Amino acid sequence: MTSTLTAAEYVDPAVYERERQAVFARQWQLAGFRAQLQLPGDYVQHHFAGWWIVVAVQDDGSLRAFHNVCRHRAGPLVMDEHGQLSSFVCRYHGWAYALDGTLNSARDFGDETFDCAGYPLYGVRVDEWRGLVFVNLDADAPALVDDHGAFFDALADQPLESFTYSHRSRHDIAANWKVYCDNYGEGYHVPLVHPELNREVLAKEYRVEVGDHYCRHSVPTRSGAVNAGAWLWRYPNLALNVYPDGMNVERFVPIGPRRTQVVYDFFFADVTADNRDAIRMGQLLLDEDREICEIVQRNLEAGVYDVGRLSPRHEPGLVAFQQWVRESLAR
Ligand code: FES
Ligand SMILES: [Fe+2]
Repeated sequence: MTSTLTAAEYVDPAVYERERQAVFARQWQLAGFRAQLQLPGDYVQHHFAGWWIVVAVQDDGSLRAFHNVCRHRAGPLVMDEHGQLSSFVCRYHGWAYALDGTLNSARDFGDETFDCAGYPLYGVRVDEWRGLVFVNLDADAPALVDDHGAFFDALADQPLESFTYSHRSRHDIAANWKVYCDNYGEGYHVPLVHPELNREVLAKEYRVEVGDHYCRHSVPTRSGAVNAGAWLWRYPNLALNVYPDGMNVERFVPIGPRRTQVVYDFFFADVTADNRDAIRMGQLLLDEDREICEIVQRNLEAGVYDVGRLSPRHEPGLVAFQQWVRESLAR
């Protein structure tokens, strides 16, 4: 029998701080999409676990990423989630940086001896795969394709490039990021929490297959169901839900020990088609999952429950996820 993580691991700010450093400062994180990064100066901003990162297209079309932190007094380079600019001009006092992070000028600084060369932006590793753009705060982390190889192989048959970016939605959840990942990691709750989905799928045959730091979910659907497709989750906090008519990319972004933001990015095979059904279903599942996760968080904090047991039939994804968290924290 396999035990769950302890309640304290979902509640304790000290554990969260260790996870910031041991998980989120070391793992590749999806920062955006090439669909929004086409022309020189196009940028996206993404934040996770207290870090704010900007990815920008260079003059030669390549990508660079930086902390959204000015070298003067830690002001922001950009405020928006995405946009287009020819240089980064800090929004506090106007220091100007080239797209490659070089400091070009320190506006009206008043010191002739000041040397801009000593104050480039703080760089972050960036890499991309099939339109997905990832960043990594760890200079020593393995290359993206090596680290994510098994997950990428599992997506080999999915027509990601045939989908067009549609829109983003953000959803605040009053729960630890691991509560939400645990919930994503099993179909055990479908009959109880998702009655509408349950009418479309054969929940008894819901399977979660564990690979190298990823899981693949599969469940037979009754014909014509909106949810026919491949659901793949990658440690620590990314999920790609691929359907015949599009995909929904989910990030479970830690905001604090008891706060998570779920970021949905919708892509469709035909963005002009009526995709309301898929959007509505995504929102419904999220609302149902949010409600149960917030109650679980509340109960984890109450001090009644300490450790539970994981079902070998339904929760192998949680066994793996929770073990990978322990391993990250032990390193
Ligand atoms: S903090 Fe950026 S110019 Fe002052
Ligand atoms: Fe769910």
